[in-house]
Amino acid sequence: MEKKIIEVKNYTFKYPDGREVLSNINFSVMQKECFGIIGANGAGKTTLLLSMVGILKGKGLIKIDGLILSEKTLKEIRKKVGFLFQDPDVQLFSPTVYEDVAFGPINLGLPPDIVKNKVEHALSKVGLSGFENRISHHLSIGEKRKVALAGILSMEPDMLLLDEPSSGLDPRARRELLKLLFNLEKTKIIATHDLDLVNILCDRLMILKKGIVVWIGKPSDILEKKKILEEYGL
Ligand SMILES: Nc1ncnc2c1ncn2[C@@H]1O[C@H](COP(=O)(O)OP(=O)(O)OP(=O)(O)O)[C@@H](O)[C@H]1O
Ligand SMILES: [Mg+2]
Repeated sequence: MEKKIIEVKNYTFKYPDGREVLSNINFSVMQKECFGIIGANGAGKTTLLLSMVGILKGKGLIKIDGLILSEKTLKEIRKKVGFLFQDPDVQLFSPTVYEDVAFGPINLGLPPDIVKNKVEHALSKVGLSGFENRISHHLSIGEKRKVALAGILSMEPDMLLLDEPSSGLDPRARRELLKLLFNLEKTKIIATHDLDLVNILCDRLMILKKGIVVWIGKPSDILEKKKILEEYGL
């Protein structure tokens, strides 16, 4: 874990209504690191993740694997980063599960037999083998989240940005997700309210409070400090 793979410097974001929801954010993530972002509802976690893949654009610098995020580098950066949206309905837009998971690999121009292979592999990783012909929009929320995750895994990105990956999952699915993420040797940034998950998975945590970074460090150094967590709405 030597190389800095993601850098965010002096990043500030305002929504069009003028409210500044991220203020002068600074942090970096090392290659293969699992980096957790925690904070109360509305702290700015989703806004920050969306900014890191250029969906939202604020002021400051975001650098991913040596590339400064801009219109020019966006396409290349998106190839390296798999993004799991907080709301799986945003991510799933094809009629069937197969097509949803195959969308990325097809776009990469891979031949049909390789696409099929990747889809099957990704679905089995999230525990949804046999779901290929199911209608994405008829799935339960937890199933949708798993399909969305399979769609990302099928692209084999170097980095994963995951917004609330465990929400809506039943205890077994959550345990399986934890195991899956634990065994994935990739750079991971996880925004979540699941303190147990970050404690198990993350090398470092960042706490956001009302758009400000209030703490960065090892999970073990903060997660037992109940009073401080309470103060940050956790
Ligand atoms: N499109 C928008 N226009 C204006 N304000 C917005 C918009 N989207 C989000 N916000 C506001 O920005 C702030 C940060 O929201 P964000 O979704 O990033 O928080 P979050 O930490 O992800 O919260 P949660 O834990 O509920 O997912 C909130 O106050 C929210 O109301
Ligand atoms: Mg959010």
